[in-house]
Amino acid sequence: MAAAAEAAVPDYSAAEAAPDRLQELLAFDATKSGVKGLADAGITKLPRIFVHSPDDLPSPPSFAGLKVPVIDLHGVADDARRRREAVEQIRDASSSWGLFQLVNHGVPPQILEGMLQGSRRFHELPKEVKAKLYSRDLKQNVKYVCNYDLFLSRAANWRDTLSCNFSTTLNPQDIPDVCRDEMLAYGEHMLDLAESVYELLSEALGLSPSHLKSINLSMGHFMSAHYYPPCPEPELTLGTSKHCDPSFLTLLIEDELGGLQVRHEGHWVDVSPVPGAVVVNIGDLLQIISNGKFKSVEHRVLANRLGPRLSVAMFFAGVREGNYLYGPIKEILSENVSPKYREILLEEYFQVFASRGLGTESILSHFTL
Ligand code: OGA
Ligand code: NI
Repeated sequence: MAAAAEAAVPDYSAAEAAPDRLQELLAFDATKSGVKGLADAGITKLPRIFVHSPDDLPSPPSFAGLKVPVIDLHGVADDARRRREAVEQIRDASSSWGLFQLVNHGVPPQILEGMLQGSRRFHELPKEVKAKLYSRDLKQNVKYVCNYDLFLSRAANWRDTLSCNFSTTLNPQDIPDVCRDEMLAYGEHMLDLAESVYELLSEALGLSPSHLKSINLSMGHFMSAHYYPPCPEPELTLGTSKHCDPSFLTLLIEDELGGLQVRHEGHWVDVSPVPGAVVVNIGDLLQIISNGKFKSVEHRVLANRLGPRLSVAMFFAGVREGNYLYGPIKEILSENVSPKYREILLEEYFQVFASRGLGTESILSHFTL
């Protein structure tokens, strides 16, 4: 496992897929044109590799009685009363839902819209152009792929992704020019927003505002710009299988189509798109360092006969260098509050995450004490 995780291009020859399924996966992957290629070809039946087991598929109706919290950040920077209110709402939402929507967050709408449009322009380029970027190389900062876990998951998702790792080695010229300026501007604004959100989350934990920022949590960010084409048989597959995010924090924007769902009190609840909002999602690593106070929650995306749907997730995953150990923050532990998780290297977390596909159970039990 360790060796496979270190290899630049993972070796899938040992994948557990049945031989005929593996052949179908390889043939599909070799087209390098993703599910958009299938949708454009006008297929009316879903290829077998995308068909999920009935246990993993939504059984309608989804639960309509619950509403994901929407938190207004208007005035939080300079009005102490507004700030206290927002900190309280963020504390409640992070500990019960693990996911909420932010409005009046200060990122100009044209930056968000520009990113979604830029992503759309990329995904709608001729397939020969996109194919040049199609890759599963973990070391490649900018790439396009259909299902990063294609050879690991039990069933594939109806989704293509353009991804970018905003690492120090990122060469902006590697970003496709149809979305380069938009992506760089979006990356900077999301970094600023993540720092503001970390301040509020620190206060919500009773820590000094700069605590979470100061342990480099806003570094190591990478982006997934997803494209969900219209699906011919949406009731048989998913846009994104259920999962918890491999990050401290994820900031997500989406267009108006909807389909994202979050698991709350045993129900799958729709996250209804709010124009201009940013979805904040607590990741597994924040659950660990908040000692379980903040929840990393399961979420998924339904497939849809309508499309395309566009969304862009920015994951803040911390820095892996320097053997830095992350564990429950000392300041929130006491005689009565003992740590629930052991200290871990990010490398260890990501090795466990990368060994499994989406659609499997949370991996946090690997790290509990
Ligand atoms: C993700 C994710 C949701 C979406 O990328 O981790 O959950 O709406 N995306 O695309
Ligand atoms: Ni996610």
